[in-house]
Amino acid sequence: MGKDSTIIVSAPGKVHLLGEHAVVYGKPAILTAVNLRVYVVISKSNTDHTLPGTVIDQDTTAKIQKIVERVVKKHLKIKSIPSYQLSISSQIPIGSGLGSSAAVSAAYIAALLIFLKINWDLDLVNNLAYETEKVFHGNPSGGDNSTVVFGGLVWFRKESADLRIIQPLQFTISSKLAKNFILINTGKPQETTKEMVGIVNSKFKIQSSKFKKLFDDQEKLVRELLPALHGFNEKELIRIIQQGEKNLETMGVCSNYVKGIIRKIEKAGGAAKICGAGGKTKSSGILLCYHKNKKVAEKVARSYNLPCFSTQLGVEGIKIEK
Ligand code: MEV
Repeated sequence: MGKDSTIIVSAPGKVHLLGEHAVVYGKPAILTAVNLRVYVVISKSNTDHTLPGTVIDQDTTAKIQKIVERVVKKHLKIKSIPSYQLSISSQIPIGSGLGSSAAVSAAYIAALLIFLKINWDLDLVNNLAYETEKVFHGNPSGGDNSTVVFGGLVWFRKESADLRIIQPLQFTISSKLAKNFILINTGKPQETTKEMVGIVNSKFKIQSSKFKKLFDDQEKLVRELLPALHGFNEKELIRIIQQGEKNLETMGVCSNYVKGIIRKIEKAGGAAKICGAGGKTKSSGILLCYHKNKKVAEKVARSYNLPCFSTQLGVEGIKIEK
């Protein structure tokens, strides 16, 4: 806590390098923390802090506060929480596949535990953030919260309701590859993460064997992605992202509009994929794109009038800023 009794905690966003949706069904995913952060400020009195990003409006902040406090009270058996001022500022586009809700929950929970003088560690924050993600998304895998809490590059697998394997990978993505990734914002999907996970589940129930095959193929690709990232195997990386995206499209989580953008990037020699729940009506959230000359992918984004940006991958997770 700062001298003026202000606590500031930040958490990064995340992208799924591969494995989203299949991860809900026990398949592995590789995720990485990205350098766009959420900042949560808790103070005893109203103090002004200029933080990076956009300040979240009061109504949304009040809703988040209610959910997070309920989870913290229930799981830590706390009767009441002393009053405090809360302000949240975010650089992460909301509801677009970059793990904004997980980042808000994680940074807020860490700040609240500090405020309450509770002995905490990253595992506790992660477990509580998972509980809040359940409130937001219904049946999350827990991959988003684990990545934003621990940061870096993460191998994640949900083995059962109570067992989640979170393996921080002991290497960073080769810088020769990392510099060629860009994110294109196709806009906030009309559907929420909860709805997209529900859509896949309804299809899975009707076409079980087709979806099992798709999930198996995503697992194979995720396993192949590991050595491609570790070494510098650009050709393999492009093949894996392209095939992984095709599978996501077969699951029905990418709109026709966004498929058109992705086909253009592929035709120009690159690869692109949604990097979270996706969206099926028009916008599908953030696209993770790779091209050996990223200017080519940027040009495609410009031709659709879509914002695109580079971001550092594998950044630090939860960080106490003050
Ligand atoms: C959302 O960012 C990723 C999904 O796989 C859902 C989840 O893992 O909870 C679609």
